[in-house]
Amino acid sequence: MAARLGASRVILTDVEPLLPGLEKNVEANGLGNRAEVSRLVWGSDELPSRVQELGRVVDLVLMSDVFFDAVETAALGKILKSVCGEETVVWAACEVRPWTGYCLNQLVSQGFELVELLSHLSDDFGNISVFRLVPLAQGSVSEKE
Ligand SMILES: C[S@@+](CC[C@H](N)C(=O)[O-])C[C@H]1O[C@@H](n2cnc3c(N)ncnc32)[C@H](O)[C@@H]1O
Repeated sequence: MAARLGASRVILTDVEPLLPGLEKNVEANGLGNRAEVSRLVWGSDELPSRVQELGRVVDLVLMSDVFFDAVETAALGKILKSVCGEETVVWAACEVRPWTGYCLNQLVSQGFELVELLSHLSDDFGNISVFRLVPLAQGSVSEKE
């Protein structure tokens, strides 16, 4: 989506078995020149080589439906912190399920501020919310201003 809207460099990540689906998606949208697919296992120390090249300067992180388990969310929070710089914007869309609150609390305990940007009750998908996640250091900066 980001590449379709004009982002010049996009990295789609997931666990290894799901990468072929992401690659097909990139191909089907003719975005091979701007979007690449890379394995990223939350909680591991490995980052996609392109992120390592970029250092901490990732402009935007988009996450879709990744809050399903508090332990997994802790690993996700750890890797998010490693790619977020002061200017990084992080958005997460998710279906709100009974366990979503545990996942969100986990991120708060790791120092993320959560701002709910949108909440929508859909007949097909239930309650969908979109959050902005602000790592603590970013929050501290804005509080001081
Ligand atoms: C509920 S699916 C959402 C898939 C897709 N983003 C969407 O919105 O339809 C959760 C996704 O998180 C990924 N995931 C789960 N645990 C992970 C981990 N430890 N490291 C990386 N990705 C993980 C899964 O492979 C899966 O793609």
